[in-house]
Amino acid sequence: MGQYFDSEPSVTSARRVVELVLPDLHLELTTDRGVFSADQVDSGSKLLLLDGPTPTPGDRTLVDVGCGYGPITMALAKRNPDATVYGVDVNERARALCVENAEAAGLSNVRVISPDEWPDEVVIDRVWSNPPIRVGKAALHELSLTWLGRLGPDGSAHFVVQKHLGADSLHAWLEREGFSVNRRGSRKAFRLLDITPG
Ligand SMILES: C[S@@+](CC[C@H](N)C(=O)[O-])C[C@H]1O[C@@H](n2cnc3c(N)ncnc32)[C@H](O)[C@@H]1O
Repeated sequence: MGQYFDSEPSVTSARRVVELVLPDLHLELTTDRGVFSADQVDSGSKLLLLDGPTPTPGDRTLVDVGCGYGPITMALAKRNPDATVYGVDVNERARALCVENAEAAGLSNVRVISPDEWPDEVVIDRVWSNPPIRVGKAALHELSLTWLGRLGPDGSAHFVVQKHLGADSLHAWLEREGFSVNRRGSRKAFRLLDITPG
């Protein structure tokens, strides 16, 4: 049995459509086996979109780290029509779905890339992420440092992490690494963390 973060899922395809319903938008998104939370929009991602920060006028570059089939990417692109939203994922099937979902929603400001395709010269205004905790602590830390290191001086990152998957230990580690971390909220099984360069 493969993992949702495999680069090329081996499970047979079984596509379906799920709904992303938020107060300000309603989207139908295509998902598939072999990608994270294929049966419904993950409740952590939905919470991040409900309680995360409102758009900052002037933002140009937003990144959804670990975009999956794209619920966060699509919502950001709809809410920030003047920004370019990068959906980044290691999972090829997830990336293909994210491209398809952006096209179906008419969102021309979405770019979907693998992590190694990031254009190094681009400075990021906001990172949003439901990060892949299950890759293990070392890989999660490396991924966090990579993307947080690309934020501009006024940039910020917004993570949703399940409490029982180590949200508080990630929070403490980020502070030890010199970032400022504010717990925006704690609802249901999740914590929302706002992270800024220290
Ligand atoms: C918790 S899931 C969230 C997916 C999506 N944002 C959602 O809400 O449905 C984390 C995602 O991170 C991806 N991922 C794993 N390792 C990664 C890495 N090194 N860089 C970027 N994405 C990664 C996984 O493939 C998975 O799609």
